Amino acid sequence: MRNPTLSRRRLLVATGSVLAASALMCGGVTVWGSQMPTIEYVQASCGKEANMQKVLVAYASKCGSTGEVAQAIGATLCANGATVDVRRIEDVSDVTGYDAFVIGSAIRMGSWLPQAKHFVESNVTRLRSAPTAFFTVHMLNTDDSEESKAARSAYVAPVHALLEPQSEAFFAGKLDMSKMSFLDRMISRMMKAKDEDRRDWRAIAAWAGQLLPETP
Ligand SMILES: Cc1cc2nc3c(=O)[nH]c(=O)nc-3n(C[C@H](O)[C@H](O)[C@H](O)COP(=O)(O)O)c2cc1C
Repeated sequence: MRNPTLSRRRLLVATGSVLAASALMCGGVTVWGSQMPTIEYVQASCGKEANMQKVLVAYASKCGSTGEVAQAIGATLCANGATVDVRRIEDVSDVTGYDAFVIGSAIRMGSWLPQAKHFVESNVTRLRSAPTAFFTVHMLNTDDSEESKAARSAYVAPVHALLEPQSEAFFAGKLDMSKMSFLDRMISRMMKAKDEDRRDWRAIAAWAGQLLPETP
């Protein structure tokens, strides 16, 4: 997905075509769309020392690459003295006990994954009263053009409407067809996307390194 001419419109056209084709083929989309390869989502904890600032790094991912970004963020926070839990958003049942939050999502079809937005919505009172940062992992609109900046803002506009984070980052992600559902793979192929890993671990560590908020 390196081609800058790949627009959200084209993505939507591709998706529409896949859905239409699937509907014509007797509704197979439900079965295809739900057939996901097994993915190991990162769950990690580090820096379990008493009296440290406790940070939750919660992420939403479909194919796993956002979890690895979350893990790298967590490792940097720990190296800087925090106690950190890195958790898939679906596995966070309780946000009490954390002093600060780093929340991230992969982008699908121009938006954060629904569970990430739901997490912010459900915990907005707590998140507004604590240092909170957002990160977004995506493949399109990664350059510094005004068009790309506007597209990135649109990705996160619904969560910004709930909460303005104290820090925010956008990271180029990874495409791995072998980890996609049949439907996502079809969409990616129609977009002429290829497997690639564009995650910049140095940029991720640099952002995480300046993140550690003051203890409230
Ligand atoms: C079906 C599909 C739709 C995508 N839609 C977008 C998009 O609208 N904008 C974008 O920048 N990246 C898009 N991406 C790229 C993903 O955000 C990127 O590959 C990310 O690293 C995936 O994270 P994950 O491995 O945690 O699921 C899309 C990828 C797929 C497979």
